[in-house]
Amino acid sequence: MRLIITDQYSGMCQSAAKIIASQITLKPDSVLGLATGSTPIGIYGRLAAWHRDGELDFSQITTVNLDEYYGLAPDNAQSYHYFMTEHLFSKVNLPKGKQYLPDGTNSDAVRECQRYQSLIELLGGVDMQLLGLGHNGHIGFNEPSDAFVKDVHLVDLAEKTIEANKRFFDRVEDVPRQAYTMGIGTIFQAKKILLVVSGAEKADILKRVMYGLICPQVPGSILQLHPNVVVVADKEAAGA
Ligand code: GLP
Repeated sequence: MRLIITDQYSGMCQSAAKIIASQITLKPDSVLGLATGSTPIGIYGRLAAWHRDGELDFSQITTVNLDEYYGLAPDNAQSYHYFMTEHLFSKVNLPKGKQYLPDGTNSDAVRECQRYQSLIELLGGVDMQLLGLGHNGHIGFNEPSDAFVKDVHLVDLAEKTIEANKRFFDRVEDVPRQAYTMGIGTIFQAKKILLVVSGAEKADILKRVMYGLICPQVPGSILQLHPNVVVVADKEAAGA
């Protein structure tokens, strides 16, 4: 794992956005794996600004998102579809038919998981996967558990995740209890992985992810085994 430490959140966004922009420039038809959460917002802001300034073209890009809340439709303001539209899709020239996320409204979990898993395989896998880090070490929505789950699956969200994500909802009762997520194997097949982390409250978990025991109780720790991971962290998250 390569670690890039930046001065603050804005520096982290600038570095990570440059890495993604290089990927797009060097391989204009890349499949990008995208993430939600508050951490990537500034990264998407920079990519959108570079597009607006005529420096970045998304016309041949395909995107596949990590996860989506179970039960939320794309027009629900808390859905990850909505988040992506707001922060990136509506601001760049990414073709509408090439923006993929799990379908949170599909209640047939077996079918939805198979559909999304096969879709990623049909696309030839992900060239660069952007990842945030949950407070409990989750990546996508792969929560701490007794075993790593390989493929796309429907997951019960951990209490800590529901607690952390309630800030986006009016009431904690409104936070969905389940989500569709890429599995660890799905994430792992990405050719390159870009993990972005910000803030002092993530310092302990980032240390465990990068240098601790590789175990399903700290899902992100599996990234130590991937051959091409760049971690971009601000000083606070890196404990520097
Ligand atoms: C959610 C997402 C994750 C994300 C995590 C951290 O749970 N499913 O993909 O990494 O939040 O979010 P934040 O960046 O807001 O701390």
